[in-house]
Amino acid sequence: MCGIAGYIGPKNAVDVVFDQLKRLEYRGYDSAGIAYLQGDHIEVTKRAGKLSELGKALFETPKIAQLAIAHSRWATHGGPTNENAHPHYDQFERVAIIHNGIIENYLELKQELVAKGHKFKSQTDTEVAAHVIGEEYANGVPLEEAARKASKRLRGAFSLVLMSHTEPDKIVCVRNASPLVLGLGNGENMLASDIPALLPYTREVFIMDENTIGVLTKDSVHVYDSDGRSIPIKPMHIEWDVASAERGGFEHFMLKEIYEQPQVMRQVTAGRVDDSGVVRLEGVFNENVWTEIDRVNIIACGTAYHAGLMGKHFFESTLRLPTDVYFSSEFRYGNPVLSPKSLAIFVSQSGETADTLAALRLCKERRIRTLGIVNVIGSSIARECDRTIFTQAGPEISVASTKAYTAQVMVFALLGLYIAQVQEVPGVRVEEWVSEIMRMDALAEECLTLETDIIKMAEEIKDMPLCFFLGRGADAFVAMEGALKLKEIAYIPTQEYPAGEMKHGPLALITDKVISIFGCTDSTVRDKVVSNMKEVQARAGKCLAITTSDDTLMEQAADWTIKIPKTKYDFLNALLAIVPLQLLSYHIARLNGCEIDQPRNLAKSVTVE
Ligand code: G6P
Repeated sequence: MCGIAGYIGPKNAVDVVFDQLKRLEYRGYDSAGIAYLQGDHIEVTKRAGKLSELGKALFETPKIAQLAIAHSRWATHGGPTNENAHPHYDQFERVAIIHNGIIENYLELKQELVAKGHKFKSQTDTEVAAHVIGEEYANGVPLEEAARKASKRLRGAFSLVLMSHTEPDKIVCVRNASPLVLGLGNGENMLASDIPALLPYTREVFIMDENTIGVLTKDSVHVYDSDGRSIPIKPMHIEWDVASAERGGFEHFMLKEIYEQPQVMRQVTAGRVDDSGVVRLEGVFNENVWTEIDRVNIIACGTAYHAGLMGKHFFESTLRLPTDVYFSSEFRYGNPVLSPKSLAIFVSQSGETADTLAALRLCKERRIRTLGIVNVIGSSIARECDRTIFTQAGPEISVASTKAYTAQVMVFALLGLYIAQVQEVPGVRVEEWVSEIMRMDALAEECLTLETDIIKMAEEIKDMPLCFFLGRGADAFVAMEGALKLKEIAYIPTQEYPAGEMKHGPLALITDKVISIFGCTDSTVRDKVVSNMKEVQARAGKCLAITTSDDTLMEQAADWTIKIPKTKYDFLNALLAIVPLQLLSYHIARLNGCEIDQPRNLAKSVTVE
């Protein structure tokens, strides 16, 4: 997501923060900006596009400053323009701020501020936060106190970095949820959203905890809790070489992105559900359009197609809304029958997949309503769909998709619940769903703690010649995505089926070397899945079961068992099961020495049909 950098000390701060932004380039961004002190005012330079654009604007004439903050943006609120790029000023241009994350209540705050006469230059939630800070920054109040008070008025997952020309000797930062790392130097101090940006300058870092505030001067660093109490700083010494640290300390982007999923789950729901359990998807067709829709066609490729299968499962089982899922590459050639009241949903991480784009254009020719579920803002599919819901997963770099899938499935659940609200679908308890959805980030964190056990399993099964992925209901759809991960990065042949299909042919492939991975997270069909497992074991096949924490019998039935936390809904249990499957594929590939982030023959964004 966004990159953050800040420096105070004897070096030229403008050069330092620009260099730090460069080291965060791998994160992906669409605009960048910098604020630095010049005499008695703050100078801000910002540009849409590549960092080189900011560089050109910035270094036309040499700039020297002892304090600067900088930001590379991955647009969420408002497109990637110069105006929307950070930093943003408060209403008096005394304070400049940069921000990572989302301020969920920015619309209501903005309304309040506009009523008081505030004027805004951008469409961002960040500028609203800047003005809230400006309001609290009354005469005599230190900047950190203003930040602390303002943070209590802001809702969402965010980090903020602030500077003020009236307190030219300090940088203040607030960590709410998005990461913020302080770098401790000798007569200089700095901060960044990620460790790699700091490494050329210091190896002593302190990762801020959530809900803390930092104050950096050139000679001191202080951190306070949200009540203003001082917190002791225990710096960590970082040994990583700079190249590996660019993956945030993870050996591969894929692992980093697997680990980002709890945060992504928070980002997906940010601003889209409120405390009373109501789902808000503003701008996504008027309510009367939703009541008219009689069927849904979901069109996508690869992992996005698998997310679409989960969407179908939700729409049909929960909403009773007829839904089909098509491979984009097949859609056009099947001369599809499209009801004029139907909705076509295009799912794409990149927003540029050529087959999906072609299918979208066909639907537009046929005057069918189109909705995108897209990660990359400003991409072709996002631009050409009538409406788009952004997955807000941040840039995904690994070719094998992980966090984008999770985000896409979460969006389907939110969209389904929104339709349930609008169409008043009987029997759908939106509030209960929402409260379970809001727990998903914590439950995904729990799934990540299974990694050590998963590594042991990976060591035992890494040489298998063939792997089956099986399940019933939503588990069958997750099985397809699990299988794609394994074949993509570990090059192990897979067979993926609804578990009940095994006896109709695939069972012939079972030998004592073949491993079958069963999704067993749906307690209503678990007995039947166990019967399918027994059929495999009776033919010498070995079985690994993924089940929920309440299941006390699976250890007796399966050769290996992975237990994930349980939610009230089978759909959400199945979604959580993807986390151990991703980790298993990752570790099998790693143990087998495969190139993980760029698997052979594959590309991240497929722009040819
Ligand atoms: C490629 C990628 C997959 C992705 C698919 C669809 O094959 O390697 O990870 O799922 O394209 O991409 P999209 O960007 O449309 O989601």
